[in-house]
Amino acid sequence: MERTFIMVKPDGVQRNLVGEIVSRFEKKGLKLVYAEMTQVTEQLASEHYAEHKDKPFFKDLVGFITSNPSFAMVWEGENAIAIGRKMMGATNPKDSEPGTIRGDFGLTVGKNVIHGSDSQESAEREIALFAGGKPFVDYEKDE
Ligand code: CMP
Repeated sequence: MERTFIMVKPDGVQRNLVGEIVSRFEKKGLKLVYAEMTQVTEQLASEHYAEHKDKPFFKDLVGFITSNPSFAMVWEGENAIAIGRKMMGATNPKDSEPGTIRGDFGLTVGKNVIHGSDSQESAEREIALFAGGKPFVDYEKDE
């Protein structure tokens, strides 16, 4: 069974979108196995976004993601990574379709409400970074 890392970014938390976003993933049928309201540190942000470290927006990205708490989650299910990406929509809200989370709630690429793993490799890395060593619940859930 596949797992993906999904995080409501500080703008989403500030705008009271956590419940809406959790609800969408629940209704889709994915299973929540980990969730935490968390203040991302500069070190964690730099590791999480290491692939962007040479980009001109890196400093703003780290500044934004550490500015206020985020809501980190791990969702489990068949094709959870690809499904999560579809539900989030394109990274830049100007390109994301209505009906997707960024398409419905985002306005700018910097404050695009939500982050989600884009591959198996990044899911494993991000889950280890944010939830490594934390207890995961193990339970049966009706489809
Ligand atoms: P995310 O899916 O969290 O992964 C990397 C983030 O970098 C991305 O969402 C955007 O929020 C951010 N990002 C990408 N391009 C830009 C940009 N041109 N300016 C500011 N932020 C960006």
